[in-house]
Amino acid sequence: MSLSERFDAYAGTFVSGTDAELDRNIELKRAHSFRVTSLADRLAAAEGFRPDLQQTVHFAAMLHDCARFEQFRRFRTFRDADSFNHGLTGAELAGKLGFLDGLAPEQRRAATDAIAFHNARTIPDQLEGDSLICVNAVRDADKLDIIALLIDYHLKHLDDPAVTLGLSTARRLSAPVLNAALNGATPNYGDLKTIYDFAAARIAWFSDLNFSWSRRRYLERRFDKTIFDLLDGVPDSDRLRESFYNAAAPWRQNDTTKDF
Ligand SMILES: [Fe+2]
Repeated sequence: MSLSERFDAYAGTFVSGTDAELDRNIELKRAHSFRVTSLADRLAAAEGFRPDLQQTVHFAAMLHDCARFEQFRRFRTFRDADSFNHGLTGAELAGKLGFLDGLAPEQRRAATDAIAFHNARTIPDQLEGDSLICVNAVRDADKLDIIALLIDYHLKHLDDPAVTLGLSTARRLSAPVLNAALNGATPNYGDLKTIYDFAAARIAWFSDLNFSWSRRRYLERRFDKTIFDLLDGVPDSDRLRESFYNAAAPWRQNDTTKDF
């Protein structure tokens, strides 16, 4: 059985058939895992990774959220603070369930590190070599999938308080968020006060992407355009737009890929 078949079967064991909320959330993470894997596979090929490293990235991407199923079943939440760190737990689980058995020991180490730290606020300094490449690839693929969801759903439902999670609809960017975004840094979550701050934070994710392929993909999917359309007319958004397109210029050339 291939890894994706094994993973699919594992996720399927959490589907109850009776609890609709549980089943919906299991399905959400199962589908997310497959999309992230497909993005990570394309990234690894486009960036010319060695074949063994491409395989490691594939395993890490497929398994990066493998602890999400247990997390939701046990705690009814995807909030790590209210349950467990799903990266660290997932790394343990992937080994325990034998998902990494087909890999050579060095590949296993890199995949385990990538699963463990895919969700870390900052990547530990001691990660290097294939572990570092692998975690960076998974983080990029994860972000590219999440941002597509956020844009498709959240940014189109900004008048729905259940979606905006209590953020103000005032047409302004908060100073700490604007400053972070202008400097190419990701704003602190706690500084997000308005829905426009939320949008600016998604713009700032661009500079957090680790590989050229990921930045090109971000631009090809026009995530920037959707976000700046939303920010149109919001004070200071022109400054953000100008600094974004200056920073993005190297990845906007030879924009010929049309396969998204
Ligand atoms: Fe995750």
